[in-house]
Amino acid sequence: MARTFETVGVVGLGTMGAGIAEVFARAGLSVIGVEADEAALARGRDHLEGSTGRAVARGKLTTERQQEILGRITLTTSREDLADADLVIEAIPEVMEFKRGLFADLDRICKPSAVLATNTSSLSVTAIAATTSRPAQVIGMHFFNPAPIMKLVEVIHTVVTEDGLAADIADLARRLGKTPVTVGDRAGFVVNRLLLSYLNHACGLVESRLSTRDDIDAAMKLGVRFPMGPFTLLDLIGLDTSYEVCEVLFRESRDRRHAPAPVLRELVTAGLLGRKTGRGFYPYAEGTAPTHETAARSAVSMVGIVGDGQDAAALLARFDAAGFKAVVAETSDLTPVAGADVVIALSDTPVVELAVRLPHPERLVGLHLVGDGVAEIASTVLTSDEAAAAAYDLMKVIGRAPVRCRDRAGLVVNALLYPYLNDAVRMLESGYSTVEDIDNAMRLGCGYPAGPFEMLDAIGLEKVRDGLRALYAEYREPSFAPAPLLDQLVTAGVPSIREHAG
Ligand SMILES: NC(=O)c1ccc[n+]([C@@H]2O[C@H](COP(=O)([O-])OP(=O)(O)OC[C@H]3O[C@@H](n4cnc5c(N)ncnc54)[C@H](O)[C@@H]3O)[C@@H](O)[C@H]2O)c1
Repeated sequence: MARTFETVGVVGLGTMGAGIAEVFARAGLSVIGVEADEAALARGRDHLEGSTGRAVARGKLTTERQQEILGRITLTTSREDLADADLVIEAIPEVMEFKRGLFADLDRICKPSAVLATNTSSLSVTAIAATTSRPAQVIGMHFFNPAPIMKLVEVIHTVVTEDGLAADIADLARRLGKTPVTVGDRAGFVVNRLLLSYLNHACGLVESRLSTRDDIDAAMKLGVRFPMGPFTLLDLIGLDTSYEVCEVLFRESRDRRHAPAPVLRELVTAGLLGRKTGRGFYPYAEGTAPTHETAARSAVSMVGIVGDGQDAAALLARFDAAGFKAVVAETSDLTPVAGADVVIALSDTPVVELAVRLPHPERLVGLHLVGDGVAEIASTVLTSDEAAAAAYDLMKVIGRAPVRCRDRAGLVVNALLYPYLNDAVRMLESGYSTVEDIDNAMRLGCGYPAGPFEMLDAIGLEKVRDGLRALYAEYREPSFAPAPLLDQLVTAGVPSIREHAG
């Protein structure tokens, strides 16, 4: 018989716990919220009142309904108050010793039939369950930030979880208005395994000075239509949580892309944990909201475009319309652009080999147009500051957000996006989850406009495979090599991974 859950305990009312308590109370359940001490409890109360108060201010909730929701939540500093709960979910910091200590206690306090759940982002649910006398009743219930808004709940069962419990927890998630995706117990589950690799990789790009925080954020937000750039998201998640998740991923995978980037360690050690402490990659104090600098205007009398096909013709037309004299050269003969003040080579691969064929190699930049809004501008080792600034200005003139970067395979967007898509194919290949669940998880857990397989189909499997080959050739990073499934689908001429494997 299916279990019923009416009274739910939530331990830890920080970034996640307060939101989770609100979600349960909104669905009509009674909630007991537990914090470590009175000060933290007061912060938890503020979170709850603030979040529901904002919903009232936006007209999404009436004051009566807000009171009803808050009235269902009892706040306490005593774990002993959880004795009668049907389900307890914890959202304390991502540290295994803390979780194990808490679960041993919950096992002692809670009634024998109670289910114990963890909101861990990455830690082994199996290892947490093993500290209790009821490992069959321990499960992962992983919400996403902000919990009242994000629709996904990952339900994580272990090898000893009792039959039917994952289905009951998935039903509970649906009752909360969420979409459950049920998976086994692997570090990072679906979303964080794919997401944190990407976020950590973005940190690595800043460390290697491929581009800047602001430019990378703009590239992923405006170019790929992710709801926010990687550094804004890291600050939202919390850099301490992000660091811990990367550590856990690395311990399981030994993939150095999961090893937390040194900049994360540095910021965490300095206590700059993101939004929750008022500063992380960005400052959040009043008056210091993230800003994107603008470059000075520069004088250009002739623009050279290197490229063939529609993009070159379209760019020429845009420059014409904006009143600039522009000429096009195909890559075989660069003579027409030899006298241009700035030479724009349309390419998503390194362009330094074109620069060295010009009389003024310092005038050449690479340009990669991403979607409708972004232009990646690649400076080679020879590019002058003036040419880079001129290209930057020109992109603004034609209505594109310029993203500055170094002349490396994949530039910014493809260097971040393609390995993420490849990771999703590897996950599918490993049998851990399905096309539909992985797509749903990334759309609903991260607010992405499309899941990785939808993106793969839209971009084209061959284009992504070739982009990954170029990245691998440049960086020799083993995980950049195209997943065998991707390579084989391209070789076999299969156009859609969703139709083939979905
Ligand atoms: N931040 C995210 O985006 C996110 C998303 C999904 C899951 N998670 C997971 O949720 C958990 C909590 O993360 P967070 O970001 O909310 O952390 P947080 O630091 O914002 O909140 C943790 C809360 O737990 C409280 N706490 C600590 N020890 C406690 C104890 N012994 N008893 C009761 N309360 C205690 C703290 O006072 C704090 O309020 C972690 O496992 C994390 O991996 C986080």
